[in-house]
Amino acid sequence: MLCLGIEGTAEKLGAGVVSSEGRILANVVKHHTPKEGIHPREAAQHHAENLPRVIKKALEEAGRSLDEIGLVAFSQGPGLGPCLRTAAIAARTISLSKDIPIVGVNHCIAHLEIGRLATEAEDPVMLYVSGGNTQVIAFEGGRYRVFGETLDIALGNCLDQFARKIGLGFPGGPAVERLAVKGEFLSLPYAVKGMDMSFSGLLTASVKAAENHRVEDVCRGLQETAFAMCVEVAERAMAHTGKEEILLAGGVAVNRRLQEMAGQMAAERGAGFFVPEKSLLGDNGAMIAWLGIMMHRAGVRHSIEDTTVRQRFRTDEVEVLWR
Ligand code: ATP
Ligand code: FE2
Repeated sequence: MLCLGIEGTAEKLGAGVVSSEGRILANVVKHHTPKEGIHPREAAQHHAENLPRVIKKALEEAGRSLDEIGLVAFSQGPGLGPCLRTAAIAARTISLSKDIPIVGVNHCIAHLEIGRLATEAEDPVMLYVSGGNTQVIAFEGGRYRVFGETLDIALGNCLDQFARKIGLGFPGGPAVERLAVKGEFLSLPYAVKGMDMSFSGLLTASVKAAENHRVEDVCRGLQETAFAMCVEVAERAMAHTGKEEILLAGGVAVNRRLQEMAGQMAAERGAGFFVPEKSLLGDNGAMIAWLGIMMHRAGVRHSIEDTTVRQRFRTDEVEVLWR
């Protein structure tokens, strides 16, 4: 069976086609990149305009027609309301017009499951760092649970806001990474509270530091501090759960320095370290399709009434029947 997965939680729109054996036949992503940050309704407008084309392209890439799709999956949440609703409407339309089952999936869990499919990781602690999310998630007691998360803004959002405020443009992560390589470490406020992280104080301090320090040094200090916070929480989650694998996910995970730090932590613990390829790290439709397949195979059936979007969809609300 083939599943069409539709992703549209934030500014990225994705459509992917995955087979029940886990073969990724297509994974098309279209970015909405406004200069002045994302506006939920404008992003939703972008998705509505581009959905037909993105789905068509994914089907072409897969070399299949819509009639060959046996299941449609979409990101039910968490995310921005208008964006989620747009993707959900597309999925419902396909489900009803083609008379195929529909399943709404949790976006964060989809990141983890595509990581397990694409790497050798079997039961990892996932460090999920993106523009909208920063969470440490692992499977325990029949559910995916959040062991630590940001108390305020996401790590990618911190990098993006910092870059925008000091004139480095958008997205911030790659610009900060390029400069950090040339910088000396600068001490900035480190904030891990219990198992949670806070990035807003670090953001304010970094913007202020950029007024009277070399920007390269601030970038280096910002990266070292923020990444060390994430790696510390991930390591403690591994110690607590006894898991011996770490999996990176989210757009920030393409960062070489973060990979190096997480990899080093894993090596010191004798644990496995896994990073999926770039196209599967950021938001994409293939991960939605794959989780859809696993849920459907485990017997999950959603009626159209069950497909209402869930902006604050918590990871641990999902009963994991497929593991
Ligand atoms: P989500 O909906 O999961 O929150 P997203 O919409 O933020 O995802 P992603 O592609 O997962 O999309 O992540 C984008 C983020 O990744 C941006 O904040 C961007 O600055 C950051 N990023 C991209 N490349 C790098 C890099 N090399 N180093 C650090 N951060 C990066
Ligand atoms: Fe994501």
